[in-house]
Amino acid sequence: MPAESQVVPQALLEELATKARAASAFAYCPYSRFRVGAALLSQDGVIYTGCNVENASYGLTVCAERNAVFRMAASGSTGIVALALFTSSPTPQTPCGACLQVIDEFQADTLIVSVCEGDGVQRWRLAELLPYPFRLRNPSP
Ligand code: THU
Repeated sequence: MPAESQVVPQALLEELATKARAASAFAYCPYSRFRVGAALLSQDGVIYTGCNVENASYGLTVCAERNAVFRMAASGSTGIVALALFTSSPTPQTPCGACLQVIDEFQADTLIVSVCEGDGVQRWRLAELLPYPFRLRNPSP
């Protein structure tokens, strides 16, 4: 359930970016050779990391961001204050649409920071990247 946004200190964002980069070392990506790492701060103050995990049946691949979010949810935390993404690319990338939708489930206003092998850094609020998420509210009985 989306919650209110919070101000995140710069030092914490840098820590998340460092942890996202470190998590990318565990990427299992023999098919794309594209390493991705994610690190998120949950509302209860825990940092969860994830990396992309590919499969020979390509469609079964799970992105780094979703692995981090599912790890958080499976550990009993709810609410994503901020998420950092590292991609093995020269410029920062946005999370894919599926990951944006999954992040929205836990926080509509998450701060997303993207870092890469180059010097570029980009920041967005989730709603900038996914202004019209799918939300199942008040389903018919
Ligand atoms: N990937 C992610 O981990 N996150 C994204 O947001 C986009 C793509 C991964 C999936 C696959 O292992 C590789 O990057 C190339 O698509």
